[in-house]
Amino acid sequence: MTAVSDQSDALFRAMRETAAAVDRRFNAVLLQSDGLEHRLMEATRYASIGAGKRLRPLLVVGSAQLFGVDLSSAIQVGTAVECIHTYSLIHDDLPAMDDDDLRRGKATVHKAYDDATAILAGDGLQALAFELLASEETHADPRVRVELVAALSRASGFGGMVGGQAIDIAAETESELDLGAITHLQRLKTGALIGFSVEAGGILGKADPYHREALRGYAQNVGLAFQIADDLLDVEGDPESVGKATQKDEEAGKATFVSLLGVDRARAQAKYLVEQALEHIEDFGEEASLLRGVARFVITRDK
Ligand code: IPE
Ligand code: IPE
Ligand code: MG
Ligand code: MG
Ligand code: MG
Repeated sequence: MTAVSDQSDALFRAMRETAAAVDRRFNAVLLQSDGLEHRLMEATRYASIGAGKRLRPLLVVGSAQLFGVDLSSAIQVGTAVECIHTYSLIHDDLPAMDDDDLRRGKATVHKAYDDATAILAGDGLQALAFELLASEETHADPRVRVELVAALSRASGFGGMVGGQAIDIAAETESELDLGAITHLQRLKTGALIGFSVEAGGILGKADPYHREALRGYAQNVGLAFQIADDLLDVEGDPESVGKATQKDEEAGKATFVSLLGVDRARAQAKYLVEQALEHIEDFGEEASLLRGVARFVITRDK
């Protein structure tokens, strides 16, 4: 067996183990209910358990590994960021936003249930994210927990994912955005939560400013590369394997790297960004092999 396939075996094993651990956490905290809210809890479990690449939790695990942080802390924080991410997808798919019927290979929440349930499932997941971070299971030091809460709120809110979603929608009716404007949009929409996921290991491990800066550089590049890959999958992907509708961005008038640069230049840009990401973490040794694997994976994935 070659070294390259050894590395990808290790990456896929880490992905499987992280996904299983996040599912266990969701199973433990999203309790079924016999009351009138049972439909909401069922819909939230439907959206949250058993699907998704769990890339953000994997980034938390990868960055936590650099500083010898307990895996259980990383999984707790990874589940919190996955709550925000899943809520963002449920709302992103609503008729008022991207109006999609398929997500993670099955009907979107508003299709399988209804709009009100989808809105509430997203709202509940958002609150749950911060409940998880505030819990003692996250870290023994309350200052670390507060730092995580502050960082995830920044990444999720007006200056992060929510702000990016607003720009994404506004851009549908704007004249063509330039490269700087699209970069800004993607940094907020997708980059901020990816940035938090990478930063989280540094917060949990009380890393020094030098290492935190290296992680920030890695995350910025991986975040942009990840969204370019998503935009390329919209153009070239097969809905069966991607698990969501494709060929929607152009029709909706979305501003993406692909709409601006075309497929070939966008792919070249994503590759370049991954090389940049790897350079930012080159001072780390073997302990960064998971982060290196994830960086390569974000542009080679087919879903
Ligand atoms: C899709 O994210 C939405 C974007 C931010 C581009 P993912 O590709 O990580 O979706 P899942 O979690 O694997 O379904
Ligand atoms: C959505 O971006 C990103 C968030 C949910 C914040 P997209 O609209 O491109 O994601 P997909 O393609 O529907 O997964
Ligand atoms: Mg969208
Ligand atoms: Mg969408
Ligand atoms: Mg997309």
